[in-house]
Amino acid sequence: MPKRRNLGSSAGRLALLHALAHIELNAIDLAWDITARFAGADLPREFYDDWVGVAAEEAEHFALLADRLEMLGGCYGALPAHDGLWEAAAATANDVLARLAVVPLVLEARGLDVTPEMRLRLERAGDAESAAILERIYRDEIGHVAVGVRWFELLCRARGLDPAATYRDRVQRYFAGALKPPFNREARDRAGFSAAYYEPLACVGSAH
Ligand SMILES: [Fe+2]
Ligand SMILES: [Fe+2]
Repeated sequence: MPKRRNLGSSAGRLALLHALAHIELNAIDLAWDITARFAGADLPREFYDDWVGVAAEEAEHFALLADRLEMLGGCYGALPAHDGLWEAAAATANDVLARLAVVPLVLEARGLDVTPEMRLRLERAGDAESAAILERIYRDEIGHVAVGVRWFELLCRARGLDPAATYRDRVQRYFAGALKPPFNREARDRAGFSAAYYEPLACVGSAH
């Protein structure tokens, strides 16, 4: 997730928008990767349709942020970026339940936790246009988490697995375990993502 920056400076805003554009570019790749990587997994057609829909929205998110960066005198690619999201894809390449647990249900859900405050900070810094882009992304991302929950539960049930216990198993094995509170309970609930999944994995003492 993007680190805390001084959004009162144009350099700080450019760095934040660049970090977010990088996340969205990775999100495009991740959405296509889940459709292609698990093409032979004998999943329902709707599984692939859902992720193609997610890929299209991620592409819109990237385009909105890349255009905004250029409007502010920057461009995507001008700053260094990390490879953490793609590493999550590689780590979960052999297990669709691990992929769903880590990508939509840890990483995208974490986006729901941190986006409202970023949006507010941009507004307070006087950048209403960037704040509006974050609001649009936030609404769509609730849908992406909902797609993740839907397929995680369907696939668990088809395999006779308990979804919440399986989620905790995969997060512990593929995502170094602990999740960082505070959680955006309202947005997660709207996505159908029950606290019974993630609350037991909350790391203690890091709620700040
Ligand atoms: Fe996105
Ligand atoms: Fe997303």
